[in-house]
Amino acid sequence: MALHPEIDYGTPARAGAAVTLEIDGQTITVPAGTSIMHAAVEAGLSIPKLCATDSLEPFGSCRLCLVEIEGRRGTPASCTTPVEPGMKVKTQTERLQKLRKGVMELYISDHPLDCLTCAANGDCELQDMAGAVGLREVRYGYEGANHFGTQKDESNPYFTFDPAKCIVCSRCVRACEEVQGTFALTIGARGFESHVSPGQDEAFLGSECVSCGACVQACPTATLIEKSVIELGQPRREVITTCAYCGVGCSFKAELNGNTVVRMTPWKDGKANHGHSCVKGRFAWGYAAHKERILKPMIRSSIDQPWREVSWEEAIDYAASEFKRIQAKYGRNSVGGITSSRCTNEETFLVQKLVRAAFGNNNVDTCARVCHSPTGYGLKTTLGTSAGTQDFDSVAEADVILVIGANPTDAHPVFASRMKRRLREGAKLIVVDPRKIDLVRSPHVEASFHLQLMPGTNVAVVNALAHVIATEGLLNEEYVKERCDLESFRDWLAFIRDPQNSPEATEAYTGVPAATLRGAARLYATGGKAAIYYGLGVTEHSQGSTTVMAMANLAMVTGNIGRTGVGVNPLRGQNNVQGACDMGSFPHELSGYRHVSDAPTRALFEAAWGVPIDPEPGLRIPNMLDAAVDGSFKGIYIQGEDILQSDPNTHHVGAGLAAMECVVVQDLFLNETANYAHVFLPGSSFLEKDGTFTNAERRISLVRKAIPPMAGLADWETTMALSAALGYPMHYKHPSEIMDEIARLTPTFAGVSFARIKELGSIQWPCNDKAPLGTPIMHEKGFVRGKGLFVLTEYVPTEERTGPRFPLILTTGRILSQYNVGAQTRRTANTAWHEEDRLEIHPHDAEQRGINDGDWVLLKSRAGETTLRAHVSERMQPGVVYTTFHHPDTGANVVTTEFSDWATNCPEYKVTAVEVRPTNHRSDWQEENDAFTKRARRIATAPAAE
Ligand code: SF4
Ligand code: SF4
Ligand code: SF4
Ligand code: FES
Repeated sequence: MALHPEIDYGTPARAGAAVTLEIDGQTITVPAGTSIMHAAVEAGLSIPKLCATDSLEPFGSCRLCLVEIEGRRGTPASCTTPVEPGMKVKTQTERLQKLRKGVMELYISDHPLDCLTCAANGDCELQDMAGAVGLREVRYGYEGANHFGTQKDESNPYFTFDPAKCIVCSRCVRACEEVQGTFALTIGARGFESHVSPGQDEAFLGSECVSCGACVQACPTATLIEKSVIELGQPRREVITTCAYCGVGCSFKAELNGNTVVRMTPWKDGKANHGHSCVKGRFAWGYAAHKERILKPMIRSSIDQPWREVSWEEAIDYAASEFKRIQAKYGRNSVGGITSSRCTNEETFLVQKLVRAAFGNNNVDTCARVCHSPTGYGLKTTLGTSAGTQDFDSVAEADVILVIGANPTDAHPVFASRMKRRLREGAKLIVVDPRKIDLVRSPHVEASFHLQLMPGTNVAVVNALAHVIATEGLLNEEYVKERCDLESFRDWLAFIRDPQNSPEATEAYTGVPAATLRGAARLYATGGKAAIYYGLGVTEHSQGSTTVMAMANLAMVTGNIGRTGVGVNPLRGQNNVQGACDMGSFPHELSGYRHVSDAPTRALFEAAWGVPIDPEPGLRIPNMLDAAVDGSFKGIYIQGEDILQSDPNTHHVGAGLAAMECVVVQDLFLNETANYAHVFLPGSSFLEKDGTFTNAERRISLVRKAIPPMAGLADWETTMALSAALGYPMHYKHPSEIMDEIARLTPTFAGVSFARIKELGSIQWPCNDKAPLGTPIMHEKGFVRGKGLFVLTEYVPTEERTGPRFPLILTTGRILSQYNVGAQTRRTANTAWHEEDRLEIHPHDAEQRGINDGDWVLLKSRAGETTLRAHVSERMQPGVVYTTFHHPDTGANVVTTEFSDWATNCPEYKVTAVEVRPTNHRSDWQEENDAFTKRARRIATAPAAE
């Protein structure tokens, strides 16, 4: 597809009553509040502009967009003048042309005239406007005072800032404020001296800038421009696709020259992101062409051997023969598979199909096991469906936002920007988190309440919120009566009113002052539309499912489900974790969350697939590893997942993998898990295949092939080849055919097809006869399960306890610039912001242990130990330490334990009792792991040709 510049209406769309006016003799009707500039573009006209762009509120500084209005004096700016009924506007007169030329002359007289060699040549609004106003000469000459000698800031790894080219239109400053909400830029000084600067004339890299790129996109000149464009030139073609990082699911235009990506530009029509992005999606795509990508299949008979590069046929045949041998020797259930939340819905569907149809068992699981499986259990039990209740747009109507166990500014940045915009408009914020996350206080945003609880006490805190509501008469009885199961409600009411759930009774172990908690509960119940957003700080606990159900109780009892602005919303971590769950990746469920024991569902799949399906649920990931250690599970096919780094208790995962006879890893890179693999199948990046991802709001978006698969096969093709070699051929020619099968077999996807997604831009499931356009808001007319079920959510403390040996609690999380196990982001310039995992520790705890900022420390739990550097920070509360898990060298999961959620086995990453002490050498584990990794990654060099 060639480049199609998007239409820029100059100012945002409005939604008022209809107003009819005349522009250049054309009659046009637009909503009240629309600017003349926007109306003109709607009418197919164009008014020159520089400081206006439709992602930003009008500013009116450049004076280029002047128009004449009949009956009015002067020449008002069309970007700041709203339409009025009967208005008659002229946009092209001799007088206007003269005025505009004069304005452009002033701009150009202080602008370097290096257009031919400028990286923005052909994509520069200043250049376009000079042409549009017919500028042919600059009467003032170029000799006077100018800014040509100002110094370029090249500190940011992804874009440059060349003030010599700046026209001080403020678009960048406004983008940073209005779109991103970071307020990193200012216009310093006045008049001729006025200039854009990050912070107090700092360099971009050292400033508050989070490198989202909104300013770069907004800049009409080459002042702020991507380094990739400077290096590679202007892109020549584009493909609309979906970000492969987080669960926000931003839409992008991948802009390319040949098969080289030049830049990723957020797509204005993307319904999840509306043209915005974060540093990962916009800039951190270089991993896809990284030199460490493995592009040839490899095999080895034992992990002591070096890898041997082989053909696809040999690798696939070897893997299949090993799985067959193992099943013949150890039984049908001795093998299994893991689907990837990074791969497409179609690829995930195929892996679980391979396990159920070709392996003939249900031993399939997904990495959602270790993140949001409690969401599935909790929301399905209470509301009837395993997904968030809202679309992202809904937050724009929330009056109270409760963020619990989530750090959206780091983990879901584009959604965080939307949320912050709503908070700046006046919505109130409650944060429940052990750390002082950025949302607690950031420019123009301040939480009304921060419930800084001790890790592991979520259930007690949410119960206490509900207790206040239930005992102070703040319930929405009418809603409950109409929509909920009354028997369960009565039981719950008696339970929750028990004084043991009161803020006063729980304060001692939650650490949240009773008065603060009461204030937060009253705000949630009485502040208008209240929405809950939560993340892994809720689910990755021994009571993760309980907290999810406690939040559903809270929302139901206050009537906060079933319309815009409210709801219970999991902020899903990975790009397709929702999809991986939807596609039947769990051992007990077929696609659409239907239990394998359900005979009619099984019959449907058996008829379509022509094989019997085991009615018994298969093994979950932890069970597979346990069974491997016990000797009954011997082979595994892992697509796009690094369980050695991402799963808890690394030693146990390593022992499980080491005990297997055939580990097949399909990935872009030789990851940590591949150290234990016997077959390596090269994966394909999101740029190299067609398919769909489903984001946190159940939105299914197309992923489009921008370049051919670098290793020759897309992941879905590899799975098909393996399945065929196992004796169960599949016959899809394109991923759209896989989606057609998903739609045939899954009632909530019945109306989904690639053609339909293309037509609508994206679709939120359920999409079927009842909801042909999809479902932005769930449970509008009633709960999916019928009546909303209240569940008793008793607080049971985790068995992981602090004590004299391990007096601190470790909790883990992410940082903006890195992503999960870091396999992608560590292979990009994002390391400029986070080159290592650090341990955040409160100054008091640090002082007690003689630890200074930057010191190496030993982090030890009963599961293991590792070393990393300390960061002394008041974001932590005393007694709690925090780290990220992006770097394999740190091995944060060496210390996490085997405790897990009672309902789903989701590991308790967020609570580990640890001790921290200064050290001057790396842990034994790190030394051994280094040596092991080096050995395990050897690739035999091919014998020299004769
Ligand atoms: S990159 Fe984003 S955060 Fe940084 S200055 Fe630009 S808009 Fe602001
Ligand atoms: S950097 Fe670009 S967007 Fe910002 S004021 Fe200068 S020209 Fe305008
Ligand atoms: S917010 Fe998430 S989906 Fe959007 S660009 Fe960033 S990583 Fe990608
Ligand atoms: S575009 Fe209207 S004043 Fe700049």
